[in-house]
Amino acid sequence: MLAVEEIDVAYGESRILTRLSVSVGTGQVVCVMGRNGVGKTTLLKAIMGLVPARHGAVALDGRDITRLTPYARARLGIGYVPQGRDIFPSLSVGENLLLGARTPRPSREALDYVLALFPGLARMLAKRGGDLSGGQQQQLAIGRALIANPKILLLDEPTEGIQPSIVQEIAAVLQQIKQELRRSILLVEQYLEFARSICDHFYVMEKGVVALEGDRAAFHLDEVSGFLSV
Ligand SMILES: Nc1ncnc2c1ncn2[C@@H]1O[C@H](COP(=O)(O)OP(=O)(O)O)[C@@H](O)[C@H]1O
Ligand SMILES: [Mg+2]
Repeated sequence: MLAVEEIDVAYGESRILTRLSVSVGTGQVVCVMGRNGVGKTTLLKAIMGLVPARHGAVALDGRDITRLTPYARARLGIGYVPQGRDIFPSLSVGENLLLGARTPRPSREALDYVLALFPGLARMLAKRGGDLSGGQQQQLAIGRALIANPKILLLDEPTEGIQPSIVQEIAAVLQQIKQELRRSILLVEQYLEFARSICDHFYVMEKGVVALEGDRAAFHLDEVSGFLSV
């Protein structure tokens, strides 16, 4: 349903992604791993249209979206949870959530679904986003993306800097989204056990290219961690 085909992305003169191809099927969870600086975030930004591809194409459900704005891509059903979460600290939890809706008001079902997924958030709708813990902010960022009912969710290191108990909650929620909504998920993740537990397919990147890929059965922790150690 999402196909990234041989994209090149550069910042000025420095080429970050080179003829990189990644694909995600309907209802599939695909994980992308790799050391810091290999271009994982750049890949998600290129899918979202936040940085341009100088070569290659991005297609959603067979439609070429390479030249569309980020806004148009969001409207077609790509949800994005950026690295670092980007919660608005002075807005309330409820206001942060509503900002994710593609329409002035989200559907009641979408809002109820998100609040049922994250009961903790439901209890703090009036709290300021900036007063939440890192894990709660991550849950809010995921909820904000889900409220637009995306076909595919892009998640950039959702477990980064989060306490283990919340990591388990986030893992359970992603499993639930996969099973109940049959949503596609493209997950950038450094926490390998978590990535292996949830992925159908995985990619390991090195310096802007795919160094290793396979289905979950081929995901061997020692082999993948070999690519990540410095
Ligand atoms: N806005 C930018 N301008 C210039 N270089 C950037 C910019 N964003 C990222 N980079 C560089 O691109 C490379 C890949 O970054 P990034 O995609 O964030 O990697 P990752 O997410 O895998 O850690 C890094 O060398 C980083 O310093
Ligand atoms: Mg990154």
